[in-house]
Amino acid sequence: MKLTQAVTLAVLCLAFPAIEAIPTPAASSALPTGTSAVSGLNALATAAGKLYFGSATDNPELTDTTYTSYLNNSQHFGQLTPGNSMKWDATEPEPNTFTFTEGDQIANLAKSNGQILRAHNLVWYSQLPDWVTSNNYNATGLTEVIQNHIANVAGHYKGQPYAWDVVNEPLNDNGSFRSDVFYDTLGESYIPIALNATRAADPNVKLYINDYNIEYTGAKATAMQNLVKSLQADGVPIDGIGMESHFIVGEVPTTLVENFQAFADLGVEIAITELDIRMTLPETDALLEQQKQDFYNVVDACLQVSACKGITVWDWTDKYSWIPSTFPGEGAATPFDDNYEEKPAFDGIVEALMGQSFS
Ligand SMILES: *[C@@H]1O[C@H](CO)[C@@H](O)[C@H](O)[C@H]1NC(C)=O
Ligand SMILES: *[C@@H]1O[C@H](CO)[C@@H](O)[C@H](O)[C@H]1NC(C)=O
Ligand SMILES: *[C@@H]1O[C@H](CO)[C@@H](O)[C@H](O)[C@H]1NC(C)=O
Ligand SMILES: *[C@@H]1O[C@H](CO)[C@@H](O)[C@H](O)[C@H]1NC(C)=O
Repeated sequence: MKLTQAVTLAVLCLAFPAIEAIPTPAASSALPTGTSAVSGLNALATAAGKLYFGSATDNPELTDTTYTSYLNNSQHFGQLTPGNSMKWDATEPEPNTFTFTEGDQIANLAKSNGQILRAHNLVWYSQLPDWVTSNNYNATGLTEVIQNHIANVAGHYKGQPYAWDVVNEPLNDNGSFRSDVFYDTLGESYIPIALNATRAADPNVKLYINDYNIEYTGAKATAMQNLVKSLQADGVPIDGIGMESHFIVGEVPTTLVENFQAFADLGVEIAITELDIRMTLPETDALLEQQKQDFYNVVDACLQVSACKGITVWDWTDKYSWIPSTFPGEGAATPFDDNYEEKPAFDGIVEALMGQSFS
């Protein structure tokens, strides 16, 4: 082993970390051990000038106390995103009937733990209750439906989230607007309607549009930049663009920094909102090593662009990743395995957050 490698390893061992909140010996034995209680992924991210390193989570997982004790540790996770429980089907399942119990559980968890909340999401074609599409609203009616949904949901959480994903996934991969009930009824105007309504409901929350395949240069990123310019020209509030970042091992785009900077140049902030990097199973040492490099590259790209405010993984353990159920035969997409053990990907994140070159 070279001296530089030994030094790097020593630094990593010191940095990672005692998880003080782990309640039982059985739980702590499955988690990383070390001597420093100071550091964690979020601690490293904030030391590097970012607002947070965080994770998506979902209500059913919170009964798993090993999982939750780690999630609770704001040294590691300084930010939470509810994976499902603030979506339209969860919050307004019937017209003008609102349920906030599950969304509140995650909002309150973040508050208790001193974690930033990214609220997710207000207007999306998916996980939308049937009544929104099947009632054949005209433009006036659907505008009122959107405004009422946002006034109630963003109004309920007013003052708490750092950001709202106001509009989720509005674009096709070729850069055209996605055909859905919102676009088909209102054209592009549903986007300003939603942004304006959110600003009215919660004047200080950051207003984001969130999408995938806009992380790298290409038609879809260009279309999103054009949308930002058009909103700005019309005086519509837009604060940030969420880069979902559901990547594939060995296929992480090489134009992240250039593309992030192009958004930053428009005067909006960005965030990596749903990061995971999946592989075709079974996992191999070679795939795990490539995944380490891939996580390093994504985190490093965010560090290189000051407008990139933070990084959210779409859950932090393979145990609760959405990938295997959505992409059969694929998985192992997060930095911790099913037993909460750190994978090489975790070390890749740490090296990038510490400003080290990849080792
Ligand atoms: C996680 O944090 C919440 C809020 O602080 C607390 O009620 C809960 O008991 C914690 N769970 C574990 C497993 O530590
Ligand atoms: C839109 O729908 C509402 C409710 O059905 C109706 O009262 C209104 O006349 C419609 N507006 C137009 C422009 O068709
Ligand atoms: C862009 O993609 C959408 C969705 O796949 C498709 O309907 C549309 O025809 C495409 N437009 C062009 C110009 O290829
Ligand atoms: C949104 O708000 C801006 C600024 O007040 C205004 O110019 C624009 O007309 C509004 N757009 C919609 C669709 O409400």
